[in-house]
Amino acid sequence: MAAVASTSLACPPNFSGLRRLSDTKLDNNAALSMTTTQSFFQHLRRSTSTSTASRASVVAMAGTGKFFVGGNWKCNGTKDSITKLVADLNSASLEADVDVVVAPPFIYIDQVKNSLTDRIEISAQNCWVGKGGAFTGEISGEQLKDIGCKWVVLGHSERRHVIGEKDDFIGKKAAYALSQGLGVIACIGELLEEREAGKTFDVCFQQLKAYADAVPSWDDIVIAYEPVWAIGTGKVATPQQAQEVHVAVRDWLSKNVSPEVASKTRIIYGGSVNGSNCADLATKEDIDGFLVGGASLKGPEFATIVNSVTAKKVAA
Ligand code: PGA
Repeated sequence: MAAVASTSLACPPNFSGLRRLSDTKLDNNAALSMTTTQSFFQHLRRSTSTSTASRASVVAMAGTGKFFVGGNWKCNGTKDSITKLVADLNSASLEADVDVVVAPPFIYIDQVKNSLTDRIEISAQNCWVGKGGAFTGEISGEQLKDIGCKWVVLGHSERRHVIGEKDDFIGKKAAYALSQGLGVIACIGELLEEREAGKTFDVCFQQLKAYADAVPSWDDIVIAYEPVWAIGTGKVATPQQAQEVHVAVRDWLSKNVSPEVASKTRIIYGGSVNGSNCADLATKEDIDGFLVGGASLKGPEFATIVNSVTAKKVAA
């Protein structure tokens, strides 16, 4: 927070310099891209701080989208533990300027929908690639809408690497889910060996392209960058590592979709985010929120992560 505050306050009126090259260790291509992107996205969003109601604040975000935090409960929970988690979430105090979503297992969606505050929206963790029918064990986008889901997580690394879903299949799922009026939390991310082989950007861009080739619009898509080596391992990416990929993703969107889409699409980070590391990550201007696994199973800790949006704010 201090870093953002001091950088921002030192900025001239057009706020140039908010993003500093020294913040990220990039190769030459990425550094070049970032310089190009700077002119599109460097800005500070004015907002009214909800924690200090009378004080205006500025928000250090490269994109224009609202901070977004999703809780991915994965294959966890029982009726009892979910009752407790929902009660904790209902009593949590959440900053107003954050979109908050939780993704329970399919069979508990109805229970959560009937007990959770409307302040928090509900996502599924997956859906079928097309219209429902004779597809044993699957759940369709229509059914998710019917039960009150607003979102679906697609392309999660556990589905890519454990279940074996491929890029083009995931792209088709995204397109169908959007056609049914669902928002899509579109995951991307590299394996450890891909990172070590210097292929992080290649892998992420290929996964992004599969979405881009399939979807007619990015209006209802949030991109979740989740390095596979950071998921469930306790080994979080450093804020610099995450920022480096986020800025490259935004640049890819700018060049391959449009600058407008690059600016408004939320790019959230996932992989061992918790109540202790979220604020540091949130200070990075291309990190527009989080997708949280393990720590989303604890209501108070999830609320801390939601409220890390305050780390983006500096007094005007
Ligand atoms: P994690 O999971 O926070 O437990 O690492 C993140 C995710 O898989 O979305």
